[in-house]
Amino acid sequence: MNTHDANSIALEEIDVSRPQLYQHDTWQPWFARLRRDAPIHYRADSINGPFWSISSHDLIKEVDTNNTVFSSSSEFGGIAIADTPKIEGQVQGESFITMDEPSHRPQRMAVAPTVAPKNLVELEPIIRERAADILDNLPVGKTFNWVQEVSIELTARMLATLFDFPYEERQKLVRWSDLATAIPEVTGDDSIDMQARYEELMGAAAAFYQLWMAKAGQPPTFDLISMLQHNETTARMNENADQFLGNILLLIVGGNDTTRNSISGGVIALNKFPEEYQKLRDNLSLIPNMVSEMVRWQTPVIHMRRTALEDYKLGGKQIKKGDKVVMWYLSGNRDETVFENADKLIIDRANARAHLSFGFGVHRCMGNRLAELQLRVLWEEIMQRFHRVEVVGDIERLPNNFIRGIKNIPVRLHPN
Ligand code: HEM
Repeated sequence: MNTHDANSIALEEIDVSRPQLYQHDTWQPWFARLRRDAPIHYRADSINGPFWSISSHDLIKEVDTNNTVFSSSSEFGGIAIADTPKIEGQVQGESFITMDEPSHRPQRMAVAPTVAPKNLVELEPIIRERAADILDNLPVGKTFNWVQEVSIELTARMLATLFDFPYEERQKLVRWSDLATAIPEVTGDDSIDMQARYEELMGAAAAFYQLWMAKAGQPPTFDLISMLQHNETTARMNENADQFLGNILLLIVGGNDTTRNSISGGVIALNKFPEEYQKLRDNLSLIPNMVSEMVRWQTPVIHMRRTALEDYKLGGKQIKKGDKVVMWYLSGNRDETVFENADKLIIDRANARAHLSFGFGVHRCMGNRLAELQLRVLWEEIMQRFHRVEVVGDIERLPNNFIRGIKNIPVRLHPN
């Protein structure tokens, strides 16, 4: 199907959950049509079953802030359009992102201090040192994959720091994060061996369990495991396998794919809009605003899903108890009624921070300040060294309707 189809096809035939739309980066006309003709849209059948699509900025906010009607709970299928597969006898990762109140809040509060401003101040020099080290060792004069060498590497180093995970084994964190979102309904890839995936994730649980035991009884330190251990609500988390695996994976996935793809998306965006790149060279104080704009433009988490706990009238449509409701952040961030010239990266956009990429309401991204910090420091360090990070080949993206994943960006560096 092509752009022409997006405008002529019957509304009920539109299915924005097809992973290929994101792999080929052809989602724009489909969401433009939905925003225009059906900002609340019902698709009766899909690989993910029937679902409502919410595509405008205001309606997404309405759903995201009403967590008494719209549940995130894993009991009803969780937060992704693909229900989390439940397999008898297997440990199911369970974390506070898939919990409603009153369970959600105390667990969130337990880990939130790791990414609170005070801790971020301490983290900034470490992030800067690690970013500088990566950038100083890049192969100037050669073509290389920015995603592998910078985006993945920097986020892996960050995660290892946050968890106090053995630094030399940090690539394992990346692997586990990738695995956590690798289910066929999300990626469209039927060849995933779910048993092997499960076994590897159990390996992750075992590694973290070991880390937990090694830190047990030690004085508190500023890493996630220690914080979980010294908080009343989560001190015995290791005794509940579902919760243990779930919360660890949440923090790995939360901090990994998202930041990684923001770093990658930023390079793509600046190459696509060279006048914005020039604006940046002329005025480096735009970096903090540019970071928000990059997070808007990229929208690393494509959607979040909710389940209606009661009948609810949304924008004139009747949503029924039990219905699956999908908030397409990617579309809300392209809503022209909020963002003028929304498809364009505008690094000094006045309302860049009005983006939906971190969600809204009680589940709003816990790590948003950390993500912004990493991006700001990285771009400050990039601009110290390179006049241009030039995209010199085809960009490869992942077939995934949940994480807007970028696999390969061939680049060449032009030093200052
Ligand atoms: C640009 C980077 C990031 C993006 C776009 C992003 C996006 C999101 C989104 C969309 C949500 C769900 C919001 C909702 O349901 O309303 C979320 C939740 C969450 N994020 Fe992030 N995230 C990013 C970085 C991070 C980082 C670095 C961490 C590190 C610790 C993190 C940890 C979390 C956690 C723990 C939650 C669950 C919050 C809750 O349920 O209360 N995120 N994030």
